[in-house]
Amino acid sequence: IENPPYADMLLTWYDRHHRDLPWRTSPPMTAKGLRANPYHVWLSEVMLQQTTVQAVKPYFAKFLALWPRVEDLAAAPSDEMMAAWAGLGYYARARNLKKCAEAVANEHEGVFPDTEEGLKKLPGIGDYTAAAIAAIAFNRQAAVLDGNVERVISRLFCIDAPLPGSKGVMRAKVAEITPADRPGDFAQAMMDLGATICTPKRPACALCPYNSHCLALAQDEPERFPVKAAK
Ligand code: ADE
Repeated sequence: IENPPYADMLLTWYDRHHRDLPWRTSPPMTAKGLRANPYHVWLSEVMLQQTTVQAVKPYFAKFLALWPRVEDLAAAPSDEMMAAWAGLGYYARARNLKKCAEAVANEHEGVFPDTEEGLKKLPGIGDYTAAAIAAIAFNRQAAVLDGNVERVISRLFCIDAPLPGSKGVMRAKVAEITPADRPGDFAQAMMDLGATICTPKRPACALCPYNSHCLALAQDEPERFPVKAAK
């Protein structure tokens, strides 16, 4: 039997129900192949680690108003940047943000690397952030796996092995269904689905584009996933 068209099903849903988030429409996009401003995508992804979309929005706007380009952030006094960050928490992220801006400005002429490999060499950019920037800004077919995506994938395919050990299996599944033509939209569609429909408690399965293919729903137990290792 052929696989269902997972990517098309989700992208059709996303085209109708996507959230309008400021970093998704970020001109100028002059260079060819660019889908969104890499500086904006990077800044939003770092802020969104451990912080909600609603909380991030005003900080994202404030940072871009103060420092419109990565070179501006690199040149900003550290104490001003830390003051602007105050309230977002996890201050190691802010220190890494500054280091990364300096590396891009001083070692890459202000241009973000356009591959996962290149991005991962920058301070504070790990597997998740590199894949997210590569997919969302540069339209690379990168497998993007965050907490939301883990929940969607583990339910859709009934992945019984516990996290964090099952991360590799989940990443392989995401890679398998990530489309070549719209990888960035697909990644953000998975995040939106996880945030708004495929929620940890009482998921809104009736509204889910995958409800006729979800193996966890077929067993009537979506909330059991993702399985976590006993502490
Ligand atoms: N969480 C982390 N990155 C996100 C993005 N690009 N869109 C929505 N939620 C996110």
